[in-house]
Amino acid sequence: MDQRIELTKDYTICRVLNGCWQLSEGHSLQGRLDLKDVMKAFHLLTEQGFTTFDCADIYTGVEEFIGEFVKELKSGHGISADDIQIHTKYVPDINYLSQVDYAFTEQIIDRSLKRLNRDTLDLVQFHWWDYDVPGYTETAGYLLRLKEKGKIRNIGVTNFDTARLKELVDAGIPVVSMQAQYSVFDRRPERNMLDYCKANGIKLLCYGTLSGGFLAEKWLGKNMTEPETRSQVKYLQIIEDTLGWDGYQELLGLLSKIAEKYNAGIPNVASKYILSQAGVAGAIIGIRNSQHVASNARIFEFDLDEEEIETIRAFLQQFPAPEGEPFELERTPSSKYRSIMHMNINEKEQS
Ligand SMILES: NC(=O)c1ccc[n+]([C@@H]2O[C@H](COP(=O)([O-])OP(=O)(O)OC[C@H]3O[C@@H](n4cnc5c(N)ncnc54)[C@H](OP(=O)(O)O)[C@@H]3O)[C@@H](O)[C@H]2O)c1
Repeated sequence: MDQRIELTKDYTICRVLNGCWQLSEGHSLQGRLDLKDVMKAFHLLTEQGFTTFDCADIYTGVEEFIGEFVKELKSGHGISADDIQIHTKYVPDINYLSQVDYAFTEQIIDRSLKRLNRDTLDLVQFHWWDYDVPGYTETAGYLLRLKEKGKIRNIGVTNFDTARLKELVDAGIPVVSMQAQYSVFDRRPERNMLDYCKANGIKLLCYGTLSGGFLAEKWLGKNMTEPETRSQVKYLQIIEDTLGWDGYQELLGLLSKIAEKYNAGIPNVASKYILSQAGVAGAIIGIRNSQHVASNARIFEFDLDEEEIETIRAFLQQFPAPEGEPFELERTPSSKYRSIMHMNINEKEQS
């Protein structure tokens, strides 16, 4: 499997993207991050070809931090700032959706450009919290105007369902990618999204591939404990409603056995399984430190065979999958999935 893929014509990315939600203020529930070590990780990763970063306008402090990295690259002699790709998101607050207009959208995009130290945003992934508030197609149209103005290179979406994504495409929005939660045990994109994306040349970029770190040796044979990050709060809910802790432990055992054959680890097999699905362009793996750089580099050093992919799939088919389309549970009023979402951070970020 190649390390890089063409997301769209003349634009290639690394198939394992460096996820940066983990660096946002409040993401860690225990302890503080060592940002010097994170900066070291960014340098090590880019030197090994992991040149694509994923962030968002609502990840507090993260666009600025990546902007600092860009500054370091601009003043150094190694990798050039032009050799990295930065994907951000445009996530208007749920309370502000009815007021979103072109001027507001441009203001947020300009803010991302300034924070990231860039002249153009490589990919802006658009998110809309509530389909009952009209305006998502018009707002995607504002992004298209900003693309035509040269401020945005590519438009993507995140957490859309298939029907709403189709509405955008039918309205002429050139969507190149869809970012969705997709892991061995959260296979919601397989219901409709993957087929639609494949048929329309839209690439899937996946998060949750490691389920906040739960798909790793560290948890093998362990009892359930308190989540260490906001990400784990989210994926624990999925484990509870699909495999249960016992089924999850069995899954770790299975992945570990496959990993042994390749002298690899559970996270490598979990990522490889998702990257092997047709229509998937990339897996976004969260970075909090430099510990996992060498392990993640293993992903491109082996391939799973058909039988192994089938064994994993057959094992998972014994368990229920999360209901509905990508992000449908997270949008359902009064659901536990929705109750943990922070839906009004962008406005706070303005001040
Ligand atoms: N569009 C959206 O709504 C959305 C939602 C969530 C995430 N995302 C994106 O996806 C990214 C990933 O986030 P996620 O929440 O899904 O987390 P994740 O990637 O499933 O898990 C990240 C955690 O996995 C652990 N890890 C990474 N590599 C490892 C390795 N080789 N071996 C063992 N453990 C390893 C690390 O844990 P330790 O730090 O404990 O070592 C890391 O913090 C985010 O940063 C963000 O860019 C997008």
